[in-house]
Amino acid sequence: DHPTGAWIIIAIHSTRLGPGTGGTRMQTYSDFNAALQDTLRLSESMTYKFAIPDMPYGGAKAVIAVPHTLDTPFRSELLKRYGKLIKQLGGLYLTGPDVGTSAEDMDIISETGNPYVFSRTPSAGGSGSSGPYTALGVFAAIQTACEFLFGSNSLHNRSVLVQGAGSVGRTLISHLQQAGAEIYFNDINTDIITRLENQGLHFIPSEQIYSTECDIFSPCALGGVLNAETIPQLNCRAIVGGANNQLTEPADADKLRDRNILYAPDYVVNIGGAMAILGLEVQGWTIKQAEAEVSANIKRALKQVLALSAKENITTEDAARRIAKKRLVDST
Ligand code: PHE
Repeated sequence: DHPTGAWIIIAIHSTRLGPGTGGTRMQTYSDFNAALQDTLRLSESMTYKFAIPDMPYGGAKAVIAVPHTLDTPFRSELLKRYGKLIKQLGGLYLTGPDVGTSAEDMDIISETGNPYVFSRTPSAGGSGSSGPYTALGVFAAIQTACEFLFGSNSLHNRSVLVQGAGSVGRTLISHLQQAGAEIYFNDINTDIITRLENQGLHFIPSEQIYSTECDIFSPCALGGVLNAETIPQLNCRAIVGGANNQLTEPADADKLRDRNILYAPDYVVNIGGAMAILGLEVQGWTIKQAEAEVSANIKRALKQVLALSAKENITTEDAARRIAKKRLVDST
């Protein structure tokens, strides 16, 4: 994009189950190749994400790699040019929000990208932000993990560390509060930290995140947080979070298993946003229905993954991958 110097990358990983669908991520990368690799990996996860609950969508993702934070008018014009690209693809690619974009941004993109843009604001005719639905699904998955580990899905006095109190993390925190959990959180935004500390939540500084003792560690910020450096530090029983691509490499799933830490594969538990938004906007679900579908589908999927992992003696990541791949193969 010449006027801003941004790169716009749209990766379509699979259209086997339906149109390539995924959020639009806007952030700064060290170089073009880092942005490209991130888009490709994220688009692949979307394929498995939709395959697991048998949704008729394929995997895709877009990254708008901006050289620096853009002023509003430049940003809006860039989003409109991106919308034109979406339109040109004629329905091969559908999008919604992701890290760095909001429902308000979807309104702008849809000016030129209509009707392939989801999760617009309610005043623009959309169903609003997808984050709260993602959070609801992560909450349901945390309950399922507790049931598996402790024999009860109650979160009363269970300690949960939420990494990132953004669009997903902040709603997850309120569900956890209502459920009586003991909540720890981390964020890098000082306003957010102050607000949550004022509500009585315990802030964990970034350098202590991985080593803090807790029942559930919930990554809800960026990907790549589980790796050779962080896994040995972990002091939790399970990892259940909303962030995409939490594992830095496939071998990290084995490292978690060796440490006896239950890993709920990210794409199994973070489908709530896309599921609810597409259900509301394509299938005409009510909000109540969307919430019920998200909770029920994610609980069912995670239980199936845990059962297969135990039965076949494979990691939860491998189990989830098998289920997703089978769906993709069976669909032909
Ligand atoms: N950010 C969502 C995800 O990673 C993508 C999405 C949101 C897709 C809303 C469609 C609608 O799953």
